[in-house]
Amino acid sequence: MSLIRADGVRKVYRCKKRQGPNRHHETLALEDVNLEIQEGEILALVGPSGCGKSTFLDIVAGLAELDAGTVQLGGKPIDGPGLDRGVVFQGYALFPWRTVLDNVAFGLETQGMDRNQREEIASRYVDLVGLSKFADRYPHELSGGMRQRVAIARALAADPMILLMDEPFGALDAQTRERLQFELLRIKQETGKTILFVTHSIDEAVMLADRIAIMTSRPGTIKAIIDVKLPRERKGAESFLRSSGMFLQAREQVWHSLKHEIEKAAELEYMI
Ligand SMILES: Nc1ncnc2c1ncn2[C@@H]1O[C@H](COP(=O)(O)OP(=O)(O)O)[C@@H](O)[C@H]1O
Ligand SMILES: [Mg+2]
Repeated sequence: MSLIRADGVRKVYRCKKRQGPNRHHETLALEDVNLEIQEGEILALVGPSGCGKSTFLDIVAGLAELDAGTVQLGGKPIDGPGLDRGVVFQGYALFPWRTVLDNVAFGLETQGMDRNQREEIASRYVDLVGLSKFADRYPHELSGGMRQRVAIARALAADPMILLMDEPFGALDAQTRERLQFELLRIKQETGKTILFVTHSIDEAVMLADRIAIMTSRPGTIKAIIDVKLPRERKGAESFLRSSGMFLQAREQVWHSLKHEIEKAAELEYMI
């Protein structure tokens, strides 16, 4: 069953400049985006920089409005943000004055859950992301990778229907990034969550996703959907998988589809 269903999504950004000939500047970010995300899958959304990936994720998150089309979650149109969607961005966006545990418990607190119950649930998710020893620490005491684990735990704590992740590992060093990719696969196995994962890294998309949706350069639309046929059980076999024929073949397929879009996006940048 499809958990998310986007039909004919269009998004225009309208910017008013103070002066100049082109005062009412419009950017068509998304045009006719049709996409279904199946329950229980990891769908990676890849595309060149500026093609509208974040815009699409923001629409699903209820943080941006669309100009045409519809997006449904579990058969109901999305109307603003909600705890049924957990969001993780590239920046950690943790509350610096709250401990790890209290950061993770934040969503539960806004639901009005009592302290004991929310701390019990939050500590389960702190355990899940491997931070039980750091539950009482503050964000500034943690590494970038650990902070992003907290952000994942916080997004999961309210037991959302889907996890929306926008380049969540983009600011991390290469080794930490790889480690977190496998952590995410493990977490996915343990929780069974549906995940929309935005990235511009082809390798990251192939390593994580069940399916990869490739976007065109702006205005973004879905150009192709690629089934990744790697075994679902990826953890523990990471180095083997990265050099396997299946991985390289999927990588090649994505690259082939994306190459032209990246070139087009680069040309667009020069025209601005
Ligand atoms: N708030 C905004 N106002 C005006 N233009 C925006 C805004 N957000 C994004 N854009 C433009 O919309 C396009 C898509 O942006 P975005 O969704 O962030 O792309 P991506 O995440 O794929 O890099 C870009 O051209 C960007 O400059
Ligand atoms: Mg983006």
